[in-house]
Amino acid sequence: MGNFRCMGLEGRFYLSNYIGGQGVRPPERVYIFDTTLRDGEQTPGVAYTVEEKVMIARQLDKLGVDVIEAGFPITSPGEAEAVKRIAGEGLEARICALARPIKGEIDRVLACDVDYIHIFIATSDIHLEHKLKMKREEVLGQAVEGVEYAKEHGLYVEFSPEDATRTEIQFLKEVCNAVCEAGADKINLPDTVGVLTPRTTYEFFREMKSSVKVPLSAHAHNDFGLATANTLAAVEAGAEQVHVCVNGLGERAGNASLEQVVIALLAQYNVKTRIRTQWISETSDLVQRLSGVYLPPTAPIVGDNAFTHESGIHVHGILRHPGTYEPLTPELVGRSRRIVAGKHTGRHAIEAMLREMGLNPNSDQLRAISEEVKRLGDMGKKVSDADLYAIARNIMEVKGEERVKLKQLLVVTGNTVTPTATVTLLVDGKELIGSGIGNGPIDAAVNAIRKVVNGFADISLERFFMKAITGGTDAIAEVMVLLRRGERSVTSTGVNGDTVMASVEAILKGMNRLL
Ligand code: KIV
Ligand code: ZN
Repeated sequence: MGNFRCMGLEGRFYLSNYIGGQGVRPPERVYIFDTTLRDGEQTPGVAYTVEEKVMIARQLDKLGVDVIEAGFPITSPGEAEAVKRIAGEGLEARICALARPIKGEIDRVLACDVDYIHIFIATSDIHLEHKLKMKREEVLGQAVEGVEYAKEHGLYVEFSPEDATRTEIQFLKEVCNAVCEAGADKINLPDTVGVLTPRTTYEFFREMKSSVKVPLSAHAHNDFGLATANTLAAVEAGAEQVHVCVNGLGERAGNASLEQVVIALLAQYNVKTRIRTQWISETSDLVQRLSGVYLPPTAPIVGDNAFTHESGIHVHGILRHPGTYEPLTPELVGRSRRIVAGKHTGRHAIEAMLREMGLNPNSDQLRAISEEVKRLGDMGKKVSDADLYAIARNIMEVKGEERVKLKQLLVVTGNTVTPTATVTLLVDGKELIGSGIGNGPIDAAVNAIRKVVNGFADISLERFFMKAITGGTDAIAEVMVLLRRGERSVTSTGVNGDTVMASVEAILKGMNRLL
């Protein structure tokens, strides 16, 4: 157990007595090299516009990463433009761009006005024989020439022998030492296809550390689900820098995830980074939204369930002391604890949730509410805060009108018009009309409601999830939203055959709870 103080945040970890391991001496400070915009963009199906890349870079800077790998300029004019734009943003983080040791590619990097280059060339026999069709001496010569050329142009050079972990170790050392002689400032050792384990990573980095004199960096891929563990093992062996991607994006199964590595370094090893951890959740959300790659609820640190409790025994413990079932406090990563009702939720928890909502059921009412929650749970239904409130209100016969009701919703969409929505709401019985446009009919409807409601309450939409309950074009849509008003947040759901109506239902339900 221990306290942490991180960039002004106070909190607690509730960990094991075995933390740190005997004899493990990681560096006191580890540099975070973020490659969300380069390796992360190589995630199948992910591509950002220049604007989106700039937006992510600003967020990464707010988060406090040390290096942003902004892209691979040779890929396309848009990629080069994005790197140049990011380099011109005046961010605190150093901006880096990728190139192979080829003059033309290094010139492209120089044209982007960055002062940090990441040069890579494959060194494993399998890559040399089948991909590069080059001899080892040729690869070594090209690597050295590339590094020399970049140094002559005043760049800080990080060099990666691609597929390092499948490279014959003597040749790997030879290449690394040769590029260091040529001026490389840092060596990054990629486990390109994620074949190491934590133990072999540790041994590999110890071995390389004894031979290479410049700082070492780890770049782990997640093909066997070991990227985070391997990255930590590299740090245990003395790596001074780690390559990570927000949400573990990256080629195939992805790279080591920023949020997991940073929090594990801090909590498990007491290793400092420059990350302002309270922005981790916000950063993850932005990248999910812009990449279109959404994390499963069970994702560590930033998944929807990371600080959510449902089971009776767990909630009982949490209500007594959060450390019973949480290894760290959610505020550390910009989250708050959520208790949801379901068939595992005990009466204690339901009572606590209702009290939070301002309802005080007697014991008979509480039993009835709890039975209803379990009945819905047995039917496979999740009970959101708004649902629980509605159930309780029904059972307790609490009289109370919904303050906001939908009177009419009109949506126009199509290939020749901007999706537009006009909404008529009855707010405390008074008719209010608003309209909005959006990327699609749902976005337009949400914007129209927001416009009306902004006039009297500051409610923001923090999360929006939709799933089709059944397959087919006539599927029933279930929408879950997380709304916030000041310190309070609620989740609510809407279920409807019409996706726009399901969204509107969910939002209005949540708003009524908040109001
Ligand atoms: O995984 C890898 O080898 C890479 C290199 C470009 C460093 O991403
Ligand atoms: Zn990679």
